[in-house]
Amino acid sequence: MSYPYQINSLEAYYKAYRKSVEEPEVFWAEIAEHFNWYKKPKQILNWNFIEPKVTWFNDVKLNITENCLDRWAESQPDTPAIIWESNHPNEAHRIITYRELLHKVNLFSQVLKNNGVQKGDRICIYMPMVPELAIAMLSCARVGAIHSVVFGGFSAQSIADRIHDASCKLVITADGAFRGNKIIDLKNTIDDALVQCKSVEKVIVLTRTREPISMIKGRDIWWEDEIEKIEANGYPFFIPEVMDAEDPLFILYTSGSTGKPKGVVHSCAGYMVYTNYTFVNVFQYQHGDVFFCTADAGWITGHSYIVYGPLSAGATSLMFEGIPTFPDAGRFWDIVEKFQVNILYTAPTAIRSLMSFGTGFVDAKNLSSLKVLGTVGEPINEEAWHWYDTHIGKNKCPIVDTWWQTETGGIMISNLAGITPAKPSYATLPLPGIQTLLLDENGIPLKGSDASIEELPHEMASGNLCIKFPWPSILRTTYGDHERCKLTYFSTYPNLYFTGDGCLRDTEGNYRITGRVDDVLNVSGHRIGTAELENAINQHSGVIESAIVGYPHDVKGQGIYAYVIYQGNLEDKKLVAADINQTVTRIIGAIAKPDKIQFVSGLPKTRSGKIMRRILRKIAEGESENLGDISTLLDPEIVQAIVGERI
Ligand code: WTA
Repeated sequence: MSYPYQINSLEAYYKAYRKSVEEPEVFWAEIAEHFNWYKKPKQILNWNFIEPKVTWFNDVKLNITENCLDRWAESQPDTPAIIWESNHPNEAHRIITYRELLHKVNLFSQVLKNNGVQKGDRICIYMPMVPELAIAMLSCARVGAIHSVVFGGFSAQSIADRIHDASCKLVITADGAFRGNKIIDLKNTIDDALVQCKSVEKVIVLTRTREPISMIKGRDIWWEDEIEKIEANGYPFFIPEVMDAEDPLFILYTSGSTGKPKGVVHSCAGYMVYTNYTFVNVFQYQHGDVFFCTADAGWITGHSYIVYGPLSAGATSLMFEGIPTFPDAGRFWDIVEKFQVNILYTAPTAIRSLMSFGTGFVDAKNLSSLKVLGTVGEPINEEAWHWYDTHIGKNKCPIVDTWWQTETGGIMISNLAGITPAKPSYATLPLPGIQTLLLDENGIPLKGSDASIEELPHEMASGNLCIKFPWPSILRTTYGDHERCKLTYFSTYPNLYFTGDGCLRDTEGNYRITGRVDDVLNVSGHRIGTAELENAINQHSGVIESAIVGYPHDVKGQGIYAYVIYQGNLEDKKLVAADINQTVTRIIGAIAKPDKIQFVSGLPKTRSGKIMRRILRKIAEGESENLGDISTLLDPEIVQAIVGERI
């Protein structure tokens, strides 16, 4: 069974796109009819990109969990909402139906309420990939609290910064997490973080690894005990909090080119409509399909395409606790076979990593249930694309290459599986509602980049990718600092949302994302701000200065190359590099550790003291000769010295 707003032909795509541009309010109002509102929308859109201020469906009242749970618990109570596969292949999987999920969310919502949580409170979630993570998110939404999920790979310091920034009142965590053959001490890390966080009153701890942990009287409580207390009083139905369209749903921190990570804020109604619409259309989801998104719920992909998009569409979302290579590199394919997965959505870095193990782990597996494949998070190289197509899709599954960002909430540019054409390494065409524009550095729109998508052929264009019209799940602000939101996204080019990505548009209007044009790296699909990383490295006592650049990495897409000026004993460079890595792990988390650290006596700087990263990037890429104009450097000699000691 399909959805009434599902695009089912190329003509229908063009028609939908045209309508979304010509009559955007009518277009989105019609889609919004397929949701449960306490009060239906009349005001569809208000916006300006100057302040910026965007509201969608401003006069509605809703609770997103009614759309994700109650309506499906009524119409299809026994359909699995979440299928969960453990990190350990021998541990039993779990299937949670819509009826059960609603029940669990009702219970945990009551737990939150009993612990003083009210509408608008901020809740930090730091949990393993278990269904309770989704239950925690949904319960926050049901109570009207704003969740801030922090990825399990971040350090105590990073968590503390995030808790502090949003003044979180409560933390939901677990004793530990299983990841491959490792155990990650989540609760201990939270304990370290909380030394600095006075706003947190309670910590709810789920049992997962049952490692020894400290439970502080009056602050720390077990998830299971709290649930038991409520169950003792019979079946609770938790009446969802009535929310306004623009009430914040969640905060998710993401790295930018300057300073500390910022809390991207998404609001209830627009985010719900857009994640649902894109889920249904990009993947061409049909009722009953099993959808497997391999992302961690700590990132936007998990928020939008494990939890809110699929569940608001009554879909079956498969959640996997572990990693693709444990116990061996066939784990994804075992899961596909075991649960007859129909749609698989993963990252190019995972594909490249699995590719390197050869096809031995794939060939014996029955992958015939697969209908659609997807990728997200970074550009996919043609080799990985073809491997995915041939060995996983057996040349019969359309691959959707989905471009989007934490800030966009949902997929922005992508082919629609089997409906609009794919082109390897291209995200292809914008989705209905997404009005793209390419500009040069001076803010001049590139010729051909503003043409209607139907006027072919186009002139080729390559520039900075902007969006000129709001879509329902555009970020609303950066938490606690609206000015920063304005400066980061809406000031580079007046009246436009600037993505920070470079992009090429071919003669057929297909978009190919070429990568970030700001100082943000994309390492294994994770965003890492070079300034943030340099700040972390500079905190090591012996470091005088550092400069971070990205370089091409076979598996990670981009690797992290650090140039470090170090004062002190460098006899054992390996040890000093390990010390620096330890510092980074403490301050940001292990995900930000540099792949290479080169100790240098100086950095190429202009006379005004600006580091010429362009040169450092070329050196890291292996270039020795064509380093460009170095005559404006304060000390041109330094360049050859760095080249000479490259690692
Ligand atoms: C990059 C992840 C090429 C891009 C959903 C963007 C991509 C950043 C693609 C956002 C893709 C994401 N092709 N590049 N299909 N998808 N990116 O916020 O540089 O973690 O700006 O959101 O990832 O990363 P974020």
